[in-house]
Amino acid sequence: MTSTMPTKADVVVIGAGAAGLFCGARIAEGGVSVLVIDHAKKPAEKVRISGGGRCNFTNIHTGPHAFLSDNPHFAKSALARYRPADFIARLDARGIGWHEKTLGQLFCDGRSGAIIDMLTGDLLAAGGQLALSTPITALDRTEDGFSIATRAGPVEARRLVVATGGLSIPKMGATGFAYDIARRFGHDVIDPRPALVPFVFEGRDKTDFASISGVSLPVRARFGDTVFDEAMLFTHRGLSGPAILQISSYWREGHPVAINLLPGNEAAAALKSAKAAHPKQSLATALESLLPKRLAGMLAARGDLPDIPRLADLSHDRIEALVRTLSDWMLKPAGTEGWRTAEVTAGGVDTAGLSSRSMESRTVPGLYFIGECVDVTGWLGGYNFQWAWASAQAAAADC
Ligand code: FDA
Repeated sequence: MTSTMPTKADVVVIGAGAAGLFCGARIAEGGVSVLVIDHAKKPAEKVRISGGGRCNFTNIHTGPHAFLSDNPHFAKSALARYRPADFIARLDARGIGWHEKTLGQLFCDGRSGAIIDMLTGDLLAAGGQLALSTPITALDRTEDGFSIATRAGPVEARRLVVATGGLSIPKMGATGFAYDIARRFGHDVIDPRPALVPFVFEGRDKTDFASISGVSLPVRARFGDTVFDEAMLFTHRGLSGPAILQISSYWREGHPVAINLLPGNEAAAALKSAKAAHPKQSLATALESLLPKRLAGMLAARGDLPDIPRLADLSHDRIEALVRTLSDWMLKPAGTEGWRTAEVTAGGVDTAGLSSRSMESRTVPGLYFIGECVDVTGWLGGYNFQWAWASAQAAAADC
């Protein structure tokens, strides 16, 4: 950390989160003078809380398919030039243990603070500087770069990297700084919206879902052509769990999502054989082998199941119809939990104005945007950090 604020640096990076710290470290390792500034007291707080405190720092299946953007091709170049294996090698070199949890998601064996210590240590060891608790008060272009006024004094830089993240979790210091700077320098901003966020419901749905809060099951969540096979969780406010967080990034307000509560193919066959074996059994009991008991009870209470006393009264056609209904349960969320709990921000600085090779502005030489503030949003599962590392490396290589 700096005790005195330098008045000049080749590069100033604003934002000491995942992308900004890594970018600063890579720039410093290239022998270029760099100052990373953040208004927060501590760096990379989102890394600290990520992955339940163990930071899901990458995903070995990273590829452009796992990212949303107005331009789905934009992320390809940076992702191809900085791969999960590159970041893993950095952890390995410092003896930071990691393991794969599921679906290619890599987590630290210990606390995520190890990654923050690594990033901060690498920045400082290579001669970079870090100014925390340093709000920016003004920012202007000069003849040969940028002048940045801060509460700790002014600093001049040839190049400026904006890495201030998105709007999610305002109580952690998230701001729209990157969007303001982008607009001021003539860039478009794709409307930021909360992503990887639980759905909330109103009325009967809200009451019903709250009544079985804590129940979870594997589902297939679908919006349009996009599907995710993961777990869904009923909550006091609506629906959450990985399947819901994933589909929320694609969801558009006012539209329904389709939930397949019976994602295998065997439900109709199972009900038909239950009917043959136990004709006197109730439908709710038979469904217990396919769905959590409390969910089956809730579906029966809201009239989503046929009202028949015994399986014997359920024709094969009605079994097929029931399975179709439960495989395409259409629900219209009232909204999402919003910025308060969204893991990331979808939308952001329009990639049309940036070089996909370097993240540099096409119109303002020396100005870069990296990380979550750019209109590139990853799936749940380590993809967002991989974008932070890859976009940071792309900019650092150009500085
Ligand atoms: P990030 O938000 O990390 O950093 C921005 C920095 O800029 C902050 O330090 C902030 O203080 C600073 N800043 C903001 N405004 C400023 C201003 N006006 N002036 C100065 N500084 C300013 N992803 C993943 O891949 N795996 C995971 O396990 C998780 N888990 C997870 C859990 C939770 C609860 C959240 C909220 C998010 C995740 N994520 C995640 C997402 C991941 O944290 C996110 O994508 C990255 O942190 C983005 O990195 P950036 O560096 O772009 O922004």
